[in-house]
Amino acid sequence: MEPVEINTGEFYLRQLRADQLMDDRPLLIEGFADPTHRRFILNLRVRNLDEAAEYVELRSAEWAADRRCSWAIAEPTTGDLLGEVGLKNLDLDAHTAESAIWVHPRARGRGVASTALSAALRFGFGALGLEAVGYEHLESNLASAAVAKRCEFTLLGAKPDLAPTGEKVIRWSRASS
Ligand SMILES: CC(C)(COP(=O)(O)OP(=O)(O)OC[C@H]1O[C@@H](n2cnc3c(N)ncnc32)[C@H](O)[C@@H]1OP(=O)(O)O)[C@@H](O)C(=O)NCCC(=O)NCCS
Repeated sequence: MEPVEINTGEFYLRQLRADQLMDDRPLLIEGFADPTHRRFILNLRVRNLDEAAEYVELRSAEWAADRRCSWAIAEPTTGDLLGEVGLKNLDLDAHTAESAIWVHPRARGRGVASTALSAALRFGFGALGLEAVGYEHLESNLASAAVAKRCEFTLLGAKPDLAPTGEKVIRWSRASS
């Protein structure tokens, strides 16, 4: 599908960009360099401009293939990247997806994650017809647990398999209402 923009009121959600008018790569590199981000997001590294460009291209290809809807959470006046939110493992036949969220360290603690994820969920349930969206985090990620709760996910408990770090993975789910 074509990338969709969403206005949450406080922020706007747009496709990640690396072009002459808007270049998210430097803030992506900063976000991924943050120790808390590195501790809790295990599968991807964005360490330099080339890796950041590949990351932006990957997200664009995922939109086109209906695999993942991903948005830069953008500051309304400057357009600067505050974080990223997504509906990943998208399955439009099964009507399911998983949540993805991170926020730049300078933008944390002021509702960016919960506002952006709530907007992404409204789009998933409303426009995409999703019926269930999952949310997972490492057990020690208390901020992430608070985001799941604030976004009205229901706690399912620990998954049977541990994360590569040896930590429990906590699973939540939200159904369309
Ligand atoms: C988890 C994360 C996305 C939260 O982003 P945020 O924009 O700061 O979250 P919000 O401001 O929307 O806060 C949502 C809730 O989390 C709580 N919270 C925020 N930081 C917290 C912390 N360090 N410890 C405990 N609770 C915290 C807030 O108080 C709020 O709770 P409330 O609903 O009871 O008021 C952010 O900390 C982050 O990017 N962490 C690194 C990446 C990550 O862990 N991503 C999730 C992977 S599963």
